[in-house]
Amino acid sequence: MLDKLHEDINKLKKLETIRSEFLGNVSHELRTPIFAVQGMLETLLHGALDDPEVSKDFINRALANTQRLNTLLNDLIEISRIESGDMKMSFRYFPLKDLLRQVVTEMEPSAEQKGIKLELISNHDNIDVYGDKDRIKQALINLVDNAIKYNKQQGKVTVSSQDAEKEAIISVEDTGVGIDAVHIPRIFERFYRVDKERSREAGGTGLGLAIVKHIVEAHGSRVEVQSKKGQGSKFSFRLKK
Ligand SMILES: Nc1ncnc2c1ncn2[C@@H]1O[C@H](COP(=O)(O)OP(=O)(O)OP(=O)(O)O)[C@@H](O)[C@H]1O
Ligand SMILES: [Mg+2]
Repeated sequence: MLDKLHEDINKLKKLETIRSEFLGNVSHELRTPIFAVQGMLETLLHGALDDPEVSKDFINRALANTQRLNTLLNDLIEISRIESGDMKMSFRYFPLKDLLRQVVTEMEPSAEQKGIKLELISNHDNIDVYGDKDRIKQALINLVDNAIKYNKQQGKVTVSSQDAEKEAIISVEDTGVGIDAVHIPRIFERFYRVDKERSREAGGTGLGLAIVKHIVEAHGSRVEVQSKKGQGSKFSFRLKK
């Protein structure tokens, strides 16, 4: 009885720590772009407005920061929906190749902007898989976004699907910086970034993979990661046919 009580108290304490760490992370992530916007507006007000070149640059930078705030808030809403069990999944059969084509088409401009080749490979017809198409699309976009962001100059990103009896295996592979084995178990945690500076420069907050994990696990699957530092990474998961 007493043991059980101690156990419950410890569990509550742990939850409280997680909660306050989460709030700390959120506040920090919000503060950075808000301060940036504030600083730019103040500089404009204190004279930079008189110089059209400078003011345009500052306004563009402020805009980029508000866009970042918007993405961050959307990700936070998504995470809280998932964790409170409010994320309604809608499972149906859908044609896999069509979805993969959509993802590649949507991500093509950002790949091109970074000089990265994005391609789609699949060894089968347009098979139907079972899942929530929109959520799977979102998970894939997050994976492709990372594969582009953490790639090298002239790198390559390959989205592929494989027919494997009762399942399809879907992978996103890159020729990027890779992830050291010690970090792999942690990259799915909220706000975890291997290289904070690099990720922040790339506009990341560390929520993308936490969202991917939740979505894939809600499909009774899990995300597998293979990576070699300096060579690239491959993220895969399976969907039922
Ligand atoms: N394909 C990849 N290659 C190398 N490192 C990666 C790759 N994908 C993820 N990572 C590492 O894992 C971390 C967590 O990824 P995650 O997608 O959760 O966050 P993010 O990309 O930093 O931010 P966000 O996705 O919220 O914009 C990244 O910061 C990066 O260090
Ligand atoms: Mg990401």
